[in-house]
Amino acid sequence: MTVMITGGAGFIGSHICVELMHAGRQVVIYDNFANSHPEVINRIRRITGTAPDVVKGDVRDVNTLISTLSAHGCSAVIHVAGLKSVADSVSKSAEYYDCNVVGTLRLAQAMQQTGVRNIVFSSSATVYGEPDVLPLREDHKLAPVCPYGRTKMQAEELLIDIAHSLSPLNVAMLRYFNPVGSHESGLIGEDPNGVPNNLMPYISRVAIGRLPALNVYGNDYPTPDGTGIRDYGHVVDLAAAHIAALDCVDKQRVLKVNLGTGQGTSVLELVDAFARASGKMIPVTFAPRRPGDIASYYASAELAADVLGWHAKRGIAEMCRDAWNWQRKNPNGYLDQ
Ligand code: UFG
Repeated sequence: MTVMITGGAGFIGSHICVELMHAGRQVVIYDNFANSHPEVINRIRRITGTAPDVVKGDVRDVNTLISTLSAHGCSAVIHVAGLKSVADSVSKSAEYYDCNVVGTLRLAQAMQQTGVRNIVFSSSATVYGEPDVLPLREDHKLAPVCPYGRTKMQAEELLIDIAHSLSPLNVAMLRYFNPVGSHESGLIGEDPNGVPNNLMPYISRVAIGRLPALNVYGNDYPTPDGTGIRDYGHVVDLAAAHIAALDCVDKQRVLKVNLGTGQGTSVLELVDAFARASGKMIPVTFAPRRPGDIASYYASAELAADVLGWHAKRGIAEMCRDAWNWQRKNPNGYLDQ
C-alpha cells in the first residue's frame, strides 16, 4: 500500500517517511518545498537505502493531488503540510487559513474523488488554548488563542464533517505537543529558516555558536522555576505513532489523539539537559514573557496508549542527544550537503 505524505520533506514529515519505509510501506512525498530543502530526499535515501517518490505540489492544487493519488495507487494519506508559526499566523492570517484550512479541504476533496478513504492529520495541542485542567485530555474544550490554532481547529472540524458525509473519510487527528530531536543518524533534523521561533532549535544554534545566547521568555510564571513548561516528545517516537494511526484509522470513523509523553519540562530544565548532552555552555538571558504563551501544558497520554498502543520511548536526554547530533553534524542544516 502506498501512503502519500504531504509535507513529507519537512522536519516531522521526513521522519515519518523514514519510519514508514522501515516498516516496508511505499511512500510518495507531496511537498511544495516552501519550508523544506530538496537535500532531505537524499538524506532519506541514505538512511533507508531507497529513494522515496517525490511530487512537487501544493496542497491547494486539487488536480495535482488527484493525479498523484491515482498515479501512485495510494491507499492512505498522512497530511503534515501546513504553516506553523504562531507569530506569522497573526501577521499573515489569510495565508494561514488558505494553506491550513483550504489546503486540507482540497486534499479531502481529492481523496473523495479518487476513493482514498484514510487520512491521518497533523493537528496540534494549540487547539486547546489555555488549559482548565492538566494533563490535557482529548475531551478538553477547544479554545485556541491564535489564528494558527484556529486553522488547526477548523481543519479538524471540516475533516470530522466530511467523515460523516455521504462520501466519508476515516480520519485520525493527532494532536502534537512539542516535537523535538532528530533521527539518530543525524542525517535529517529540524532546520528552520532564519532565527528559530522554537526552543530546541534555538538552543541548538546557541550550542553550535550561530547565536550568542538563549532568550528565556519569562521567569515569573507560576511554575517551580518560573519558566514555561511543555511536553517535549522525540520526533522518531512521534513518527512511529503515525504508523500506529494508519493501522487503525479505518476501525473508527473519527479519532482524536494527543501525541505527548505526559511529562512537563521547563525551559531551564531543557537548557540543562542540552548542556549535559552537548558538553556546551548555553548562555541564557531572561527576557519578558512572549505574548500568547501559556505557563504550562502537557498531555494526557492515556488515549494514545489505549487506542494506538503507542507511548513515547525516548526521554529528554535522548531528545537533546539527537538534536545535538544533528546540529553538530550539520552546523548549517541542509546547506551543509
Ligand atoms: N522559549 C524561550 N525562548 C525561545 C523560544 C521559546 O524561552 O527562544 C520558551 C517559550 O516561551 C515556551 C517554551 O520555550 O515556554 C516552548 O516554546 P516553543 O516555541 O518551542 O513551543 P510552543 O509550545 O510555544 O509552541 C509549539 C509549536 C506551535 C504549537 C504549540 C502547540 O511551536 O506550533 O507548540 O503545543 F502550536
